[in-house]
Amino acid sequence: MAAEPIIRVVDLTAGYGDGPAVLSNLSIDFPRGRVTAVVGGSGCGKSTLFKCIVGLLRPRSGQVLVAGRDLSTMDERDLPEALSRVGLLFQQGAMLNSATVADNVALPLKEHTTLPASIIEESVRLKLQAVGLGHAGTKFPSELSGGMRKRAALARAMALDPELLLCDEPSAGLDPRTAADLDDLILGLKETFRMTVVVVTHELASIDAIADDVVFLGPGGVLHYAGPLAGAKTCTVPEVGDFFARRGVGAPAGTRSLLQVLEEGQGR
Ligand SMILES: Nc1ncnc2c1ncn2[C@@H]1O[C@H](COP(=O)(O)OP(=O)(O)OP(=O)(O)O)[C@@H](O)[C@H]1O
Ligand SMILES: [Mg+2]
Repeated sequence: MAAEPIIRVVDLTAGYGDGPAVLSNLSIDFPRGRVTAVVGGSGCGKSTLFKCIVGLLRPRSGQVLVAGRDLSTMDERDLPEALSRVGLLFQQGAMLNSATVADNVALPLKEHTTLPASIIEESVRLKLQAVGLGHAGTKFPSELSGGMRKRAALARAMALDPELLLCDEPSAGLDPRTAADLDDLILGLKETFRMTVVVVTHELASIDAIADDVVFLGPGGVLHYAGPLAGAKTCTVPEVGDFFARRGVGAPAGTRSLLQVLEEGQGR
């Protein structure tokens, strides 16, 4: 029997306020120890799915189980503990600008553990080294390049040695070389720490480089494909076929999302 999936999304319906459902009756299993790329056009609900997986957005119906625990019905006070083994790299990078890089990485350790300061310091040093920022701990996020900031955010997401790492468009706004370095880094971290990685990405090169599996969402959060990368490439659903034939997702190839354009404008 296959190992229990690390994330089970069961018949999930979710949306914002009184607005229409963004995700409707969505069911996906994310297997352990693999890298899954979540792909789909802008606005189809990829980030919304992540918000449900980390309990930031409560489902209207259905379940989200992370490592066997149902977040959708869990008391909010129990969420931080349940999610302490989940690292999240937000689409916007979200670092505290008033704190140094080292303090940013230390934050989750201070919040979730009672470790003495010397151990936290050592752990932060190791994480920054792992992402190639061993020299940048005393800098502030505003002093880093876009690629460095992503790596710093990755070090922070890794602070608590997560068994699951969720990355929302980690390479958006990076040049192809830096994006490829980030892919290598994510793969390296997966192998070193035996993590499961779920990553939202539009980049075919990145999917080829790191993904074992693909989840392909269409407009309205419809599930077009979930399974191994090789199967996605031969999938007969037109949207999936078009994407892997480099014709883009619901937009001309090379079109960047508004957010990507804005992020680039801010040098992220
Ligand atoms: N905080 C919010 N309040 C209201 N609606 C929202 C909110 N966040 C997202 N939405 C809506 O939910 C839908 C899905 O958004 P989501 O951010 O999940 O898309 P996405 O697939 O991540 O897109 P992108 O590739 O551009 O990041 C969109 O119609 C969006 O307008
Ligand atoms: Mg998004």
